[in-house]
Amino acid sequence: MNILILQASPRANGNTAWMAEEYKNAAEAAGHKVTLVNVSRKHIAGCLACEYCHGKGNGACIQKDDMQELYPLMAEAEVLVLAAPIYYFTLCAQIQAPIQRMYCVNAPAKVKKMTLLCSSYSPNVYDGATAEFRDICNYWHAENTGVVTAKIDEQKTDATKQKIIDLVAKL
Ligand SMILES: Cc1cc2nc3c(=O)[nH]c(=O)nc-3n(C[C@H](O)[C@H](O)[C@H](O)COP(=O)(O)O)c2cc1C
Repeated sequence: MNILILQASPRANGNTAWMAEEYKNAAEAAGHKVTLVNVSRKHIAGCLACEYCHGKGNGACIQKDDMQELYPLMAEAEVLVLAAPIYYFTLCAQIQAPIQRMYCVNAPAKVKKMTLLCSSYSPNVYDGATAEFRDICNYWHAENTGVVTAKIDEQKTDATKQKIIDLVAKL
């Protein structure tokens, strides 16, 4: 399958980047085509709610920032993997912006499955992130293939790596 991973942590050697890389390695080993984008390094503004896209824009966003690189990748993805740290009890801003900029097309056209990889310092801080993820899966009519979380003592461990491999195996 054609898999797009959006990695949203600004820490290049952090836990979220590690989880995204492990997912990529496992998916490529299983024969999938994988594109990994570090969205934290992109300039992607929030939606302006100007409604240009639903009028004169005919589905195109008026903002010509780095989201323009992502739209074609989102349009072709069959599996969408969101990889993000928890900031203030929810998904970090760097992942929210690209999700919300999909407003112009409403949903990624071919996405059938979605996965969430999420890291935090503390335990029990994932309710907001997992609720949002579940609702977006439903809204985009995508199967929720599962969530892997890693709090501080679960980061970069064999156990977490195995959970990621198990998720890939479900594709
Ligand atoms: C702005 C900010 C807010 C954070 N908020 C939380 C939080 O609410 N709960 C928590 O457990 N960790 C919080 N953290 C810690 C990160 O989620 C944690 O260090 C995570 O592993 C970072 O992922 P990374 O290694 O991929 O950057 C926060 C970190 C930052 C920078």
